[in-house]
Amino acid sequence: MTLPRLASYPHRHLLGIEGLAPDAIEFLLDLADEYVDLNRQVDKKRGTLKGRTQINLFFETSTRTSTSFELAGKRLGADVINMSVARSAVQKGETLLDTAMTLNAMHPDVLVIRHQDSGAAQLLAQKVSGSVINAGDGTHEHPTQALLDALTIRRRRGKLQGQIVAICGDILHSRVARSNIHLLNAMGAYVRVVGPPTLLPTAIERLGVEVHTDMEKALDGADIVMMLRLQLERMQGAYVPSFREYFHFYGLDHRKLAHAKPDALIMHPGPMNRGVEIDSLVADDINRSVIREQVEMGVAVRMACLDALTRHLPDTGAEPAP
Ligand code: CP
Repeated sequence: MTLPRLASYPHRHLLGIEGLAPDAIEFLLDLADEYVDLNRQVDKKRGTLKGRTQINLFFETSTRTSTSFELAGKRLGADVINMSVARSAVQKGETLLDTAMTLNAMHPDVLVIRHQDSGAAQLLAQKVSGSVINAGDGTHEHPTQALLDALTIRRRRGKLQGQIVAICGDILHSRVARSNIHLLNAMGAYVRVVGPPTLLPTAIERLGVEVHTDMEKALDGADIVMMLRLQLERMQGAYVPSFREYFHFYGLDHRKLAHAKPDALIMHPGPMNRGVEIDSLVADDINRSVIREQVEMGVAVRMACLDALTRHLPDTGAEPAP
């Protein structure tokens, strides 16, 4: 796909992938590509966000997203504050909106939020003066995950268009699946989703995906196999009879993987539950698994997002981007 390059990213916030134009996605991926190069150098620091304040607000647990947002902000020279929700006034009953208004009074330039409620990032964006980045809201979206997944695929395959991507597992509770479906569709990839009927959202085909309950059929000829964790923390009651049975039908092992293209890439957003949705031999297969590469791309994508969004804010006289 040949897209005209945008001169800048056209939005102040990044709340989701849904509704983003392909050239806006391409802009972030191109910028992230430059940051991959920077991150592989000894001196990884730039002054692009010098004078800016970034507050990370994680109401849910995180390893990859929270660490990479902190690293990204620091590598770009921002003052990065990680608000500890466990030690904040949230524990005394302060609402998300009151927390947002309180933080806004301190003039942050960027708020990065992960929250258990779908729509929390959107709500925050309506109340604060700076940029808001959604680091995952309930079962809604996880836009930077989809961007880092797309960057991983694009760097390996040269393009997203035409790639057959099978997203496998707990689609119902997955914000990663939703953001990836929007992004991959926008960029001309073919998306299949597969899982037990209990973990497939009603009318998911309306998002423009092929729906399967048979793993082998879903993987047939796939270029990319993207595995998802069972999101037990979002389930009330049992959605699968047992982990053992789930692995038998939907866990990725070399036998099922043999149905995909011989060079199909294996992806997982993490954290992984080995032996539940993925076999260790597949997860650690150095010829096929790009799971560690996804983590590396995460830092670059988050640097690109911070850089692109803050270009909309009043100037601080910081260094231009690399
Ligand atoms: N992929 C992802 O969002 O991982 P974390 O929960 O560790 O941030």
